[in-house]
Amino acid sequence: MLELTDVTKQYRVGEQTVRALDGISLRIEAGEFTAIVGPSGSGKSTLLHLLGALDSPDSGSIRFQDKEIGDLDDDRQSEFRRHRVGFVFQFFNLLPTLTAWENVAIPKLLDGTGLRKAKPRALELLELVGLGDRAEHRPAELSGGQMQRVAVARALIMDPPLILADEPTGNLDSKTGASILQLLADITKEGNSVVMVTHDMGAVRYCDRVINLRDGLIGSIDRVERADDGAVRTVPEEPAAAITADETVPGDETVPGDETVATDEVRA
Ligand SMILES: Nc1ncnc2c1ncn2[C@@H]1O[C@H](COP(=O)(O)OP(=O)(O)O)[C@@H](O)[C@H]1O
Ligand SMILES: [Mg+2]
Repeated sequence: MLELTDVTKQYRVGEQTVRALDGISLRIEAGEFTAIVGPSGSGKSTLLHLLGALDSPDSGSIRFQDKEIGDLDDDRQSEFRRHRVGFVFQFFNLLPTLTAWENVAIPKLLDGTGLRKAKPRALELLELVGLGDRAEHRPAELSGGQMQRVAVARALIMDPPLILADEPTGNLDSKTGASILQLLADITKEGNSVVMVTHDMGAVRYCDRVINLRDGLIGSIDRVERADDGAVRTVPEEPAAAITADETVPGDETVPGDETVATDEVRA
């Protein structure tokens, strides 16, 4: 569904150049829940922003459903953001003066649909995220977990094939966070793809794949396997599955003692 080839992104701050992404190649398939993990500053947010066309790469290719995003004009790119991608952020980003259902309906409003006309779908989605009885509440009258549920419902209202979430549980206690992760996992069962940046290695158990970033490079890609007894472990993915056959990922050599996530069992 989404294919990145040799993507780079640098930031220039004064005299200094930071290579935030240093040649990333990967594919995101439909219906997969992918986690992007890695130390602070490894390029996770930058990668997520590029996936959502919130920013553009300096070089390399990003193709969505076989179309090069960089070739789209500005109008088509903002249409891509509105219709193809739903965003969920760490701090929810709800408008405080609007009710829960109005917040959910906002993307429809921005797309030229009247708020009233979008109401039935907004209410349906609030029902889906378990907030059917909170539709008229304002953000200040909701808990953190409830606010994040509203944000997930808002991300879904345009029915986008791709949901991007940057630390969606970063501001929630672990129990509330777990329920948001389960919600995101359920969404992928409907065929949507979810790509989530997270610091929380416990979150990996809800995902299908884990992309480990390190200094702007892919350190490893792991598949999450679930045993019948509920045990979860991560298994290194064949490089060939992650990239096109005739290419290699630069810096893909495994550093001894550096396989943090690859071989560690993930426990509940
Ligand atoms: N807007 C920006 N201007 C300058 N440098 C940036 C900007 N955004 C990110 N960076 C730098 O790029 C690198 C990757 O940042 P980021 O993608 O935010 O990492 P992460 O989300 O993994 O913490 C970091 O070194 C960061 O300081
Ligand atoms: Mg970040």
